[in-house]
Formats: sequence, structure tokens, C-alpha cells
Amino acid sequence: MPGAPQATLFDLVGRREGVAAIVDTFYDRVAADPEIRPVYPEDLAPGRAKLKLFFEQWLGGPPAYSEKYGHPRLRRRHFPFVIDEKHAGRWLHHMRHALRAHNVPVEAERAIFERLAPLAHHMVNAHEDVPREPLGEAVLE
Ligand code: HEM
Repeated sequence: MPGAPQATLFDLVGRREGVAAIVDTFYDRVAADPEIRPVYPEDLAPGRAKLKLFFEQWLGGPPAYSEKYGHPRLRRRHFPFVIDEKHAGRWLHHMRHALRAHNVPVEAERAIFERLAPLAHHMVNAHEDVPREPLGEAVLE
């Protein structure tokens, strides 16, 4: 319909509630995966909450993450965690399962993965000499 507002990916995944459900399923799977679990800190709650805020904004919803933490600078924020290609593969596998578990339409899943797959591989830093000091709740510009 001309002039009708286009649905964002944020709308298509079920907005805030949908994002929360997807990220919960994703984190539950990470928690149970011996390949990727050791990369994460002992307490998974802060990361779970941050990924919810980030996903809302990354999918076209309100800028919930940046309001709290500044620029995402995702690669920089992942430096304290040693991530290899296998971890990127597991991460994507769990995210795909989470989208399917919450009945995200197949077209939306495709659009999300087109952007998510390169982003996940961009996080790989295992064989690089990068600063590993924890960033925690840092607000980055
Ligand atoms: C490639 C595999 C990945 C691994 C192994 C990984 C692992 C991690 C770990 C260990 C944390 C820290 C959690 C904490 O501080 O409690 C984290 C944070 C985060 N990750 Fe990832 N991640 C990956 C890919 C991604 C991708 C593709 C995205 C975005 C779509 C993403 C978004 C985030 C966000 C927003 C945070 C919170 C950053 C902050 O504010 O500290 N991650 N991730």
C-alpha cells in the first residue's frame, strides 16, 4: 500500500517481547553448549540483558542499547573474549534455532542472517593481538 509504514524486522520478530523471547532461548542454548559456554563469564545475566537491548535497536526498533552504553562498537567490546571461527558458527547456529523456535517468518530470518553471519565472523579475534582488558559496563563513544 503506497504510503503505508513498512514493517521493520523489529516488528516481524514480535517487537520487544519477541526479541526478549528469542534472546532468552538463545542464551539458554549457549548455557548448555560446552563448546561456547566457556567463552562467556560465569554470570550470563548481564550479557543476556544487553543482547536484548542491542537486538531491539539492531532490528530497527528504538535505540535502547545506545541510550545506555553509547556506541555498540561490537568488535571492540568482544576483545576481552577469545572468539574463534568455531564459536562464531555455534553462535549463529543457536541464533537460527532461537528465531525458528519463536516462529520468525522465513523471509525475516533470511534478512536477519544476511547481516548476522558476516557480523558474527567479524567478531573472531582469537589469533589477534588485541587488548583483552574487561570493558564491563563501559559507555563507549
Ligand atoms: C561470534 C560469536 C560470538 C561470541 C562467542 C560472543 C560472545 C560474547 C560474550 C562472551 C559477551 C560478553 C557477555 C557479558 O559481558 O556478560 C558478548 C557480549 C555481547 N555480544 Fe556477543 N558474541 C558473539 C557474536 C555476537 C554478535 C554477532 C552480536 C551482534 C549481533 C553480539 C552482540 C553482543 C552484545 C550487544 C554484547 C554486549 C556488549 C556489551 O555491552 O558489553 N555478539 N558476546
